[in-house]
Amino acid sequence: MTGFSTEQVHAGAHPEAEFGARITPIYLSAGFVFDDFDHAEARFAGTTAGYVYSRINNPTNAAVEAKIARLEGGTAAILTGSGQAAVTVGLLGVLKTGDHLLSAPSIYEGTRSLFRDNFARFGIEVEFVDEPLDLEDWRRRIRPTTRLLYAEAIPNPKNDLVDFEAIAGLAHQHDLPFAVDSTVPTPYLFRPIDFGADIVVHSASKFLAGHGASIGGVVVDAGRFDWAKRPDLFPHLAESVDGAGGPSYTEKFGAQAYSAFTRGVIASRLGTSLSPFNAFLLQQGLETLSLRLDRHTANALALATWLEARPEVASVDYAALPSSPSYALAQKYLPRGAGSVFAFTLRGGRDAARTVIDSVELFTRMTHIGDVRSLILNPATTTHGRLSPAERDAAGIHDGLVRLSVGIEDVADLVADLEQAFGALAR
Ligand SMILES: Cc1ncc(COP(=O)(O)O)c(C=O)c1O
Repeated sequence: MTGFSTEQVHAGAHPEAEFGARITPIYLSAGFVFDDFDHAEARFAGTTAGYVYSRINNPTNAAVEAKIARLEGGTAAILTGSGQAAVTVGLLGVLKTGDHLLSAPSIYEGTRSLFRDNFARFGIEVEFVDEPLDLEDWRRRIRPTTRLLYAEAIPNPKNDLVDFEAIAGLAHQHDLPFAVDSTVPTPYLFRPIDFGADIVVHSASKFLAGHGASIGGVVVDAGRFDWAKRPDLFPHLAESVDGAGGPSYTEKFGAQAYSAFTRGVIASRLGTSLSPFNAFLLQQGLETLSLRLDRHTANALALATWLEARPEVASVDYAALPSSPSYALAQKYLPRGAGSVFAFTLRGGRDAARTVIDSVELFTRMTHIGDVRSLILNPATTTHGRLSPAERDAAGIHDGLVRLSVGIEDVADLVADLEQAFGALAR
């Protein structure tokens, strides 16, 4: 395999055939023409390759999917209209009513609500591990109905990493797949599949696109999980589809059984497809991913180090700092850097957070991460505002906690902005 920066530019892309356009164009077409009666029949039967309808797939989207699958080391990818859609369809490709999902506790609050409220309405039971670094805590919660283990790569805002390889190993001991939301590191910093993950999901609205101009998501199939080994656990993939001895998804699609089912039966029917226009914007962002991430992580490390030395700051939650409980795991899993989304807690609590957030001039007050612009937010009163004070306390989301998503600006300007905002605390 060629280097990551080469792959991010070239993988999945090829000059367009009719006019030789170098960049994969935006194919804004709902449907695709059938040459004749037989051609239509063959396209519907899947016996001839090609596009049918953009809710199912589209040439712009397919090029971006191929690029992301290659960057993640998977066999296939499915673009979705948002990161939330990616989590939803990625997991519904495995789970159905009556199944049990076992999740790490530190996950994006939107996903937690999706699990708690929406999955509960589907009859899918979700349980959160209390001590995610204790493998026994995961093990003792696995039930006969458990079908999937789930974690996030760099949880936001606390940067509390889990031991991915250990959880993947445990899942596989029980013939279960392991899914990872890898939004924050992106495949440039961390490839979950290299450490045993079977499914990777992303919000592509964040670092993958980088520009903050569009919402999107993606599900990646590692293509390694043996769904056929336990037809009792995964009958939708391992048993005859028509019940009359026809081939199962595993027989028909091999290493792409999960993604074929998830695209054809889940994503296209729930209608979660990404507009080719947004897929094109994502494509443009992906081509510079490694360059942006190098700058993001260097800026974040410099800011985190600066913050840790400030008397106004009680603690900094950044996995790349030696003071972080996640430092050893970050050294193992994130040798290129721990991304640029982290938090610090001001000694002055809510009032201090208000002063700093209201005083910044370069940072943008916004709920988003992974943008080229630096962003700032108080989770206790926004993203985590629905939690009870006791739940927030247990999660370490104190009133004075400030989340940063560090952008790619000149770091001296970012430090200067925080310095002048801290200056307001003394006034
Ligand atoms: C880790 C993570 N996963 C999923 C999502 C949801 O993505 P989207 O906002 O694109 O739906 C987010 C959004 O912030 C996120 O941070």
